Formats: sequence, structure tokens, C-alpha cells
Amino acid sequence: MEEVGATAPARPGGGPATGYTFRAAAEWAEFGAVLDLAYGGHPHSPAHSAVVGALFEPKRSLVACHGGRPCATLAGYALEMTLPGGPAPVAGIGYVAVAPPHRRRGLMRELLRRALTALHEERAEPVVVLHSTEPGIYGRFGFGLASRAVEVSVPPEARAFAPEAEGEAAAEAGRKVEAAGLTLDVVPAEEAHSAIADIYRACLHQRPGMLRRDAAWQRRAVEDEPASRHGAGRLLCMVASGPGGAARGYALYRLRPAWERSRPRYALSVREVFARDPAAYAFVWRSLLDTDLAGTVSAAARPVDDPLLALLDDPRSAAPTVRDQLYARAVDLDRALTARTYSAPVDVVLEVRDALCPWNAGRWRLTAGADGGAECARTGAAADLALTAREVGAVLLGGGSPAQLALAGRVTELRPGALRAASAAFHHDPAPFCPMSF
Ligand SMILES: CC(C)(COP(=O)(O)OP(=O)(O)OC[C@H]1O[C@@H](n2cnc3c(N)ncnc32)[C@H](O)[C@@H]1OP(=O)(O)O)[C@@H](O)C(=O)NCCC(=O)NCCS
Repeated sequence: MEEVGATAPARPGGGPATGYTFRAAAEWAEFGAVLDLAYGGHPHSPAHSAVVGALFEPKRSLVACHGGRPCATLAGYALEMTLPGGPAPVAGIGYVAVAPPHRRRGLMRELLRRALTALHEERAEPVVVLHSTEPGIYGRFGFGLASRAVEVSVPPEARAFAPEAEGEAAAEAGRKVEAAGLTLDVVPAEEAHSAIADIYRACLHQRPGMLRRDAAWQRRAVEDEPASRHGAGRLLCMVASGPGGAARGYALYRLRPAWERSRPRYALSVREVFARDPAAYAFVWRSLLDTDLAGTVSAAARPVDDPLLALLDDPRSAAPTVRDQLYARAVDLDRALTARTYSAPVDVVLEVRDALCPWNAGRWRLTAGADGGAECARTGAAADLALTAREVGAVLLGGGSPAQLALAGRVTELRPGALRAASAAFHHDPAPFCPMSF
């Protein structure tokens, strides 16, 4: 049902922003034409549409229409994400796209405002998360950089593990491992669904940012569209199993053939690695690095504190490059701040500015005890820290540091000592990491 006359606000410098209507999405297919235009004429293949269409939640997703035709999209998802302290419901946003003729007229802003207002009014998920095509887009809407990732590229000459890291499994991997009790199998990814699902589930609470995967999300995780292989082979799964045959770790990866002076230097790119225990984790990485034909072994996104960086004897050669990853935002400040636990006791009054979600603006007292559990309520007390919704988003998963943001001028300390206490409380070890795109 279209909301006739619900127009986007006029944008300074933009064209006339009249004549737009907004409604819930009907089906995934109507996103197709907008996404095709918005991303430069690359229509989704039927196979990819089937995978992402199975995840689509029309009631949570919005389209803006012009002349009755969709011209802007926003997909909403009900997700379960590990926060510091455990799993919590979060809302995901994806496929924010505006067809080129309709850009810079406030359509993205209006879609986000509507999505956030609906979550607030329905008292739905307290936190919303998204991945951004460009890092400069969402800060103005109160989304903060909640997790970072590192890209690593291990060249053949830097494959060695540090001597101290050559634990039993790692050491034995090079000698075909039976003695260490771990064995290796390599199969096409689609044949390893159950091992992948079991190990991923066991790792779900290792870090904030991890998303629970049902069968449809797992299909997305192991999706292997020929069009996205870019010369590489099919997606493979390396599975490490213990003595009783139980799978303990896996890696999803591809090999792209390459030769240098008649010598094989295949590019091995790793999509994800999970293991139930450190020995299996080291063993899987050892096996990836020792893959026959492989030259450089790279991974586009690993946690910033990936144990791999401590396993390698020469992490410098892996050239870890830090990237922005997940962006998070509080839908309702009090519910968001109490959805997680804290690493140290804290009692702090936050003065929050939030233009897009004005119900969050004002002073909030956050208290957390030694058990990590927190309370958050409005207060008339003097503020200890002043910040915007964006900085709140940055610290929600335990990755962003209030102290760092203060040094950048984005958090203001109004009571000496408040910053140090807040930083100790918000910090989470290990660092947040989100392995899923949506
Ligand atoms: C990014 C995109 C969705 C923006 O849509 P839009 O309707 O033109 O955006 P709006 O008019 O609502 O702009 C709102 C604000 O964001 C800013 N903005 C828009 N796109 C931006 C970008 N790519 N980088 C930085 N700022 C951007 C606008 O300048 C405006 O700023 P202001 O509030 O200071 O005036 C659109 O350009 C698009 O579809 N791009 C290709 C797909 C894409 O990258 N989507 C993002 C997916 S995460």
C-alpha cells in the first residue's frame, strides 16, 4: 500500500524532491532493476538472486517509488549477533541503493529515517548494523565504525610460524599430521555444509560481531557464483578433523592459476577460517600456507587481532592493512547500551546528540557492575562525557575506544577520569569481527 504524498524533503542543491512515495517492499524482484542501475549495470544472475532472495524480508524492507516505479531500496533483516556478553537481536540493513537520476534528493536519508523510526516505535531490535560500500556515507546518520578487519597477504618466503607457535598440531602439519591427531580433507564447499555449520556454530560466541547463520545465511556464506570467481577455481573447503573424525576446523578458499618463470604461483584467497580450538586453527592455517602450487596466500578480511598474526614468524611480510568493516547504531540508546555487558565497572553520564533519532538525545546515566550487567536511564545529573550517536555506535561492540575518539576531538571529557573508566568498560577482547556480508 503506497503512502501517497509521503514525499522526501527537498535537498539543498538537489532537484525537486516531490512525487516520491514510500512503501514496504513486495518481493525481492522489485529491488533488481534499482540495484542493476545503482551498481553500474551488473544485473544479479538468477542463481545469486535465488540466494539473496531467500534472505529477503519484505515487511522490513522499503522502496521509494517515482511515477509508480521503484527508484530507491533499503533491505532490512532480523539478525542475531554476538555482542559483548552474548547473543542479542540486531537489525541489519543492506542494499541501500538509489537509481542515478534520483540521487542527492534525500531518498537514502528518508529511507533510513523511516527504517529507524519503525524499529523505535515497534521496540524491535535495539541496535542496527550495516556494511557500507564507502566509509564516508553513514557517519552523518549516527552509524559508527564498530569493527575493523585486516587484509593479509602472506608471500611464499614468509610462511614460517614463530618457533614458539609451532605447537604440536602446527609442527606436525608439515609432516602430514597423523601424529598430531588431526587429519585434513579438501572438498568442494557445497559438500561440507554440515562441518561448516557445526564449527561456525561452535565459534559463534568467540567474538562480538559474529552473526548466527540459519540454512539460508549459510548458503550465502558458501555461495560460489562462477561470475564472481574472476579466474579462480570453485570454492573449496579444507576440513581438519580430530582422531574420532569430528571436524574441528575449516577454511573456505579458492586458487587462481598463475605462473612465474614456468613455476606455479597460484593465488590462494581465503574467504573464512574457523576452528573449535587453537591447535586446529593453527593446523588449518599451516595447511593453507603449505598448499601445493600456491604462491601468495591472502585473505581480504581477518579480525584485527587474528591469531594468524601471532603465529607467523614474519607478520610484517603479510602486510596487514586495516579496513573499516561493520557500522553500528543505537536505535534506542538505553536498550542498546544494556544489550551488552561491560569489561569493567563504570558509572558515567553521557550527553548524547542524535539528529536523526531525536528520542536518543539528552543525558543518560550508564552504570555497570563487576558482573558486567548494565543499567541505563535518563538523568538530570551533570554530564561526564559528550558525544554523538556516531561515537556511541563505534563503541557498541567493544571495538571503538572512547579514549581514541576523544583524542580525535569526537568525545569530550567533562569529568576527569570518566574517559579512562568508560574506555576500560566499553573495550572488548577479542576484537569484534563480522564475517558475513548482507
Ligand atoms: C549512496 C547512495 C545510496 C546515496 O543516496 P542519495 O539518495 O543520493 O543520498 P541522500 O540524497 O539521501 O544523501 C544524504 C547525505 O549523504 C551524502 N552522501 C550521499 N552519497 C554519499 C557518498 N557516496 N559518500 C559520501 N556522502 C554521501 C549526501 O551528500 C547527503 O549529505 P548531506 O546530508 O550532508 O547533504 C546512492 O548514491 C547510491 O545508490 N550509490 C550506489 C550504491 C551504494 O553505494 N549504496 C550504499 C550501500 S551501503
